[in-house]
Amino acid sequence: MNILVTGGAGYIGSHTVVELMKAGIDVVVVDNLVNSSKESLKRVEAITGKAVPFVEADIRDRAAMKKIFAENKFDAVIHFAGLKAVGESVQKPLMYYENNISGSLVLFEEMAAAGCKNIIFSSSATVYGDPAFVPITEECPKGKITNPYGRTKDMLEQILTDIQTADPDWNVILLRYFNPIGAHESGTIGENPNGIPNNLMPYITQVAVGKLKELGVFGNDYDTPDGTCIRDYIHVVDLADGHVKALNRIQQNPGLAIYNLGTGTGSSVLDVIHAFEEANGVKIPFSFKPRRAGDVAVNYCDAAKAKKELGWEAKFNLTDMCRDSWRWQKNNPNGYED
Ligand code: NAD
Ligand code: UFG
Repeated sequence: MNILVTGGAGYIGSHTVVELMKAGIDVVVVDNLVNSSKESLKRVEAITGKAVPFVEADIRDRAAMKKIFAENKFDAVIHFAGLKAVGESVQKPLMYYENNISGSLVLFEEMAAAGCKNIIFSSSATVYGDPAFVPITEECPKGKITNPYGRTKDMLEQILTDIQTADPDWNVILLRYFNPIGAHESGTIGENPNGIPNNLMPYITQVAVGKLKELGVFGNDYDTPDGTCIRDYIHVVDLADGHVKALNRIQQNPGLAIYNLGTGTGSSVLDVIHAFEEANGVKIPFSFKPRRAGDVAVNYCDAAKAKKELGWEAKFNLTDMCRDSWRWQKNNPNGYED
């Protein structure tokens, strides 16, 4: 199989490229490096012992996309490329709609022109909004989304659904990720946020490594057992494996299929802090801060559909995720700049 991986130099993309190559699948990565560096792919090459074909291009660049499809015959596309910072998307909505929507439209058009009609799309649990029920199944109605980033995910899900309805030759798999954390066991690839991290785990690891003084825990008055928000954290290597399993499924011509990728276990912010401290023997100073706008109290999934139809389930637990996140950060205090 030959797969185009958009955004393959990024956090989830680089881990997925490792798992694809391990499974003997050929890949071509296209990435404009707006939120990543070539170094991640060099490290993927060191892990796998194989070269990673890479095209540095923007998916909005139609000529570049045409050239990629003219020079390769792909069985499917795994589409990670996009901007993903929730807060930034509120400040710069046009940038988010332009990059994520316009870029994806060029990609989909060029896929159709090349006759490549199989796509796996990185969606997010954010489409459930404040979920109507937990654990969240794929039947849970979509909720009110509070930011432009999340709306691009919702819109792209709808656009792909409409494309598949109009032309049943398309196979579209929407993967709704819960909260990816962790890193490859080698400690050589991992999450590499720009500036001060917005997300919990990279913030914790930067406190642990001494780059930040203390963690602010956003809210301790939620209606949860310890008052802090509950999420479904999933190891990025499990998530990557979910894409390999989704590729097997896409070959069975599923039409449109939607899967939650999470562990099915909810953990509070305090659970994560304590698991990190215990797994790594490092103290994480923290203090409680006001709630963060847009956060929902509880969000975790029912991952039974992915188990039944993809033969996929998460193997790593929270301790594994904390251990692997820390190994990456400790070995690379400045990410890929080291
Ligand atoms: P990331 O920023 O590390 O990776 C995205 C990659 O896409 C980067 O390498 C970036 O350089 C590239 N990119 C962005 N715009 C591009 C463009 N126009 N042309 C070419 N390349 C472009 O993010 P990630 O965490 O690996 O996320 C991958 C995907 O999964 C994204 O679509 C994201 O929205 C989605 N997702 C992420 C999370 C999460 O918590 N990390 C949760 C749900 C969904
Ligand atoms: N948190 C803190 N302090 C921090 C950072 C986060 O207490 O410094 C808390 C948040 O309030 C939340 C939890 O940790 O309760 C997890 O927050 P993250 O920012 O790590 O993750 P979110 O659940 O807010 O968002 C993630 C992705 C989004 C995606 C969403 C889908 O970052 O891209 O999951 O649910 F849309």
